[in-house]
Amino acid sequence: MSPSTGAALRMLAATVDAKAVAEIGTGTGVSGIHLLHGMRPDGVLTTVDPEPEHQQFARQAFRACGFASNRARFIPGRALDVLPRLADSGYDLVFCDGDRLELLEYLAESLRLLRPGGLVVFEGVFANGRTVDSGPQPTEVIRIRELLRAVRESQELVTSLLPVGDGLLCSVRR
Ligand SMILES: C[S@@+](CC[C@H](N)C(=O)[O-])C[C@H]1O[C@@H](n2cnc3c(N)ncnc32)[C@H](O)[C@@H]1O
Repeated sequence: MSPSTGAALRMLAATVDAKAVAEIGTGTGVSGIHLLHGMRPDGVLTTVDPEPEHQQFARQAFRACGFASNRARFIPGRALDVLPRLADSGYDLVFCDGDRLELLEYLAESLRLLRPGGLVVFEGVFANGRTVDSGPQPTEVIRIRELLRAVRESQELVTSLLPVGDGLLCSVRR
């Protein structure tokens, strides 16, 4: 994740005064650290990843950055198995950085999870320029294009594609 994307994530979390954030794709915790910095000091990041070793690494990274252990809730598992267990309208921001083949499903789950005025954010929507390349593209790029079309056509969302890093797609739920 680029420093500019990290800075944007901090700003977005602060903009919605985030107390509850859901993250799809814990990874090594880079995005989580930025989100935690932007959230309220009592905010809790709920982060989902099927790889326990990724979450273990992120847990250590959060601790090394000085975040108390109660600031993050690590849930092991695939997003589409875990997200249905999270509370309706219980989140201020959902950050999607998991499996690119599941983007439309992440959008649908995010709309359920977000409070009105909450933000859903997708990382990497430029796919290194392939999203706008007219040549044949892999399925994950097709899925990104479907996502872009879905947010553009949604009456429920106000959207902006920020040209930071590899493209940060941000939509506010009305
Ligand atoms: C690009 S990395 C995330 C990087 C992370 N946000 C960071 O900044 O460190 C993608 C992550 O998504 C996880 N992942 C893959 N499939 C997933 C799924 N179905 N549900 C949730 N996470 C998934 C991978 O294990 C990987 O850790």
